[in-house]
Amino acid sequence: MLIAANWKMNGSADFAKDLASKIISPGGDVKVLICPPTPYLSAVKAELGDGIYLGGQDCHDQAEGAYTGSTAAGMLEDVGCEYVLVGHSERRSMCHENDKMVSSKARAAKEAGLIPVICVGEKLESREAGEHLEVVKSQIKHSVPDGFVSDDYVLAYEPVWAIGTGKTASIDDINEMHNTIRAQIGPGVDILYGGSVKAANAADILSLNNVGGVLVGGASLNADEFNAIIKAGILD
Ligand code: PGA
Repeated sequence: MLIAANWKMNGSADFAKDLASKIISPGGDVKVLICPPTPYLSAVKAELGDGIYLGGQDCHDQAEGAYTGSTAAGMLEDVGCEYVLVGHSERRSMCHENDKMVSSKARAAKEAGLIPVICVGEKLESREAGEHLEVVKSQIKHSVPDGFVSDDYVLAYEPVWAIGTGKTASIDDINEMHNTIRAQIGPGVDILYGGSVKAANAADILSLNNVGGVLVGGASLNADEFNAIIKAGILD
């Protein structure tokens, strides 16, 4: 079970340190992952308790070189990251990242000793056309590198229309998609759900068989709210 926070491009150094210091240690089988903005990684790392891991929000697919503004996976590892998000829908849409690039990033992450959290999810028009299962299956087929085994990655299913909208997918929709993904990728991989997860809906989502955690954006910026989500993971 992995309860992950994606702070996106929010906060300041003081905000990040304060928020990180308030996150509860989960214990047991539950892990917590915090993905702060890149400049605050080291400061946040210093505040994290036991069972709380650090992650980047993106990495480059090359190990080094003339890539102004980019961060190599090895650099994330260097400052204490264990994970990195790759292929988040905001990067797919705003930075034009496709499955092939996401796959290269996931491979670079693994080579640097990180666990990539490979993000997939359909847009509203795909869901309305009833093509959501096929779209996500195709994203997974092309975004998870060939040869990856279950310990190499975490998968996050985040329907684009549910991200930052307050509109969570229904329990039936989540169940259908996660069962489909499990059938495709097999046992052992944690499959996270993301998209408007909050304290009020986390327990129901986490109780589903093939949900192995959640990826939380907006609600992870509030310590009380995020800690309540961690507690829902501990109780599950
Ligand atoms: P949200 O974001 O929880 O604000 O919907 C989730 C995400 O983008 O990972």
